[in-house]
Amino acid sequence: MNIPKLDIGGLLAEIPIIQGAMGIGVSGPELAAAVANEGGVGVIAGVNIGYNEPDFKTNTLAANLRALKKQIKQARQLAPKGIIGINLMVAMNHYIEIAHAAVHEGIDLIISGAGLPTNLPETVQGFKTRIAPIVSSGKASKIILQYWDKHYGRIADMVIVEGPEAGGHLGFSQEILNAQNKPSVIDIVKEVIAAVKPFEEKYKKNIPVIAAGGIYTGSDIADCLNAGASGVQMATRFVATDECDADIRFKEKYIAAKNDDVVIIKSPVGLPGRALNNKFIQELDEYREKIAGCVQCLKGCNPKVAPYCISTALINAVRGNIDDGLVFVGSNVYKIDKIVSVKSLIEELLNEMALAPNQ
Ligand SMILES: Cc1cc2nc3c(=O)[nH]c(=O)nc-3n(C[C@H](O)[C@H](O)[C@H](O)COP(=O)(O)O)c2cc1C
Repeated sequence: MNIPKLDIGGLLAEIPIIQGAMGIGVSGPELAAAVANEGGVGVIAGVNIGYNEPDFKTNTLAANLRALKKQIKQARQLAPKGIIGINLMVAMNHYIEIAHAAVHEGIDLIISGAGLPTNLPETVQGFKTRIAPIVSSGKASKIILQYWDKHYGRIADMVIVEGPEAGGHLGFSQEILNAQNKPSVIDIVKEVIAAVKPFEEKYKKNIPVIAAGGIYTGSDIADCLNAGASGVQMATRFVATDECDADIRFKEKYIAAKNDDVVIIKSPVGLPGRALNNKFIQELDEYREKIAGCVQCLKGCNPKVAPYCISTALINAVRGNIDDGLVFVGSNVYKIDKIVSVKSLIEELLNEMALAPNQ
């Protein structure tokens, strides 16, 4: 197939591949810049981005804001011509302050999910930063676009559709995730394309719809594009790269993973999540006892009743303390067998896409 570019509200990515954000710290400036340098979109994970700052536990917001600015600058230095985005979870405390800081630092794009980002447009007013919600159904895309249209007189620059095979938090019930006949991301992409159409007509603007979750090969990418998607967002595959910002033990866990190591867990964010079964998952009850030093990162998370501290668990994992960590994965993790450079991964994907037919 011919490899199309991806136009995000006038920002032109040479290839239609977005590297999905992976928090905490798994997709930092190194990975985002490497993907951006290959012509894709690199996305830094914004959630608790300041976890390595010395005052993270005592002065969390200031530590997060400082790290955010540092990481955006660093990514820009590494990829001066590339497109760099930030991902902010709606469930995060201080969402607006952090979004404002990213916009003032000149971030190209904010991608936002784990809830509907109703007030995202107000953070970019007067700036060129593009905005994209993550949704898991046509209905959710309609709700958010209607809200933005009514309250801000604008629409999204792109909509990302995350299907049930994705890693991290998932916008589906446990029942749907466990069902044999769960919808495919392609089914949902088609629904979302239909839902955004009236808004594209009203605003005379193209809204690219992106497929995410379980996309592994160039042929998978071609299938999404042939179904009408304008691009894909991929995360799991980018973990097994030299440039991924996580500890080597995190990457090795991906390489060792088998299909039946993948489990669906309940997260304190209030959504199910997909992760690797490990000591942490098997002994969750003990981690509930150990909650200490809460930094109040999530709206609505009460450390007195939370099943475990998700922030501590994700930080343990990215630092390579896997036994005590929560290792989020996409359902295709078991296919990964080696660590490669971002350049060679993208070359492989593009070669496979080139071999696929245009439909
Ligand atoms: C380790 C890990 C962490 C993730 N963290 C986030 C996050 O912080 N915010 C978010 O919106 N999505 C997050 N995701 C979801 C990805 O950005 C992406 O959309 C999804 O995993 C795509 O599916 P794939 O991994 O099968 O390619 C995470 C996924 C993984 C594997």
